[in-house]
Amino acid sequence: MQIYIDTADIDEIRHAISLGIVDGVTTNPSLIKKAMEKHKIRDMRQYIEKILETVGEKRPVSLEVIGQTADKMSKEGHELYTTFSKDKYNIVIKIPVNPAICEKDITNFDGLDAIFRISHSQYKTPVNATLIMTPEQAWLAAKAGASYVSPFVGRIDDYLRQRTGIKFNKEDYFPAQDWFASPLLPSVHIHDAKLLDDNGIVSGVDLVEKIDKMFKAEGIETKIIAASVRNARQARELITTGVDIATIPFNVLKEMASHQKTYDGVESFTKDIVPEYRSLFEDDSAKHKEKPIA
Ligand code: E4P
Repeated sequence: MQIYIDTADIDEIRHAISLGIVDGVTTNPSLIKKAMEKHKIRDMRQYIEKILETVGEKRPVSLEVIGQTADKMSKEGHELYTTFSKDKYNIVIKIPVNPAICEKDITNFDGLDAIFRISHSQYKTPVNATLIMTPEQAWLAAKAGASYVSPFVGRIDDYLRQRTGIKFNKEDYFPAQDWFASPLLPSVHIHDAKLLDDNGIVSGVDLVEKIDKMFKAEGIETKIIAASVRNARQARELITTGVDIATIPFNVLKEMASHQKTYDGVESFTKDIVPEYRSLFEDDSAKHKEKPIA
């Protein structure tokens, strides 16, 4: 599985890239807003150029459009691509699979229309179809020409939990199998069995698995980017599904590298370091200050 970093914060991008663990970057307008507030960005174009220099020429960077009609999104996608790719950087245009705000809004097909237009344009611009919440949306986006689809794992888990009215924190683990595997179940009074799944989807990880199965059955080559990843256990489950890519926020990468017993182990090993062993790692000038070995 490839790992992308899900952030627009250049410090986080630089750090993760330097560790050699990151194969690409995904951003969205909310992540850009967060980075803007932190870094007091005045010149957005210059800031994105700095990100691209940091990421390098090969790794894909997803930049999202902001419009809600196919015309606007196609124009914005084209602008983003020509402004930033410069025949050098691997820019991927992120388009909501359906930009309608409510069911009755616009046509519900503007996302697919823009995906088709951008991916079939003269530049053959790669598209990342975002806000994917069902396997059917993923399938339609792939048919329209998307190179990537981004199912939102954490937001599906949020949706299932919200519908049952239970209290949770965004980063809380939600079981991949279903509610019945959840330690929370006994405390939840679920009156309506329909709330236990979202039209057959029992968790965010399940959504990814179902898209993967569908794509394999159909011979679809569009890559799946599991997005909206909220904790290390969810990331582990995604790796196990064999999904192509997961885009992971910096704090979750940090959680993936951590364990209490690893901290404890380092503490106890550090306490046990004898001076003779420590001296192996000191530079020569420091060694001369040590007493000679008897
Ligand atoms: C992906 O690129 C999405 O924009 C992102 O993962 C959303 O994550 P969130 O649901 O935690 O905001």
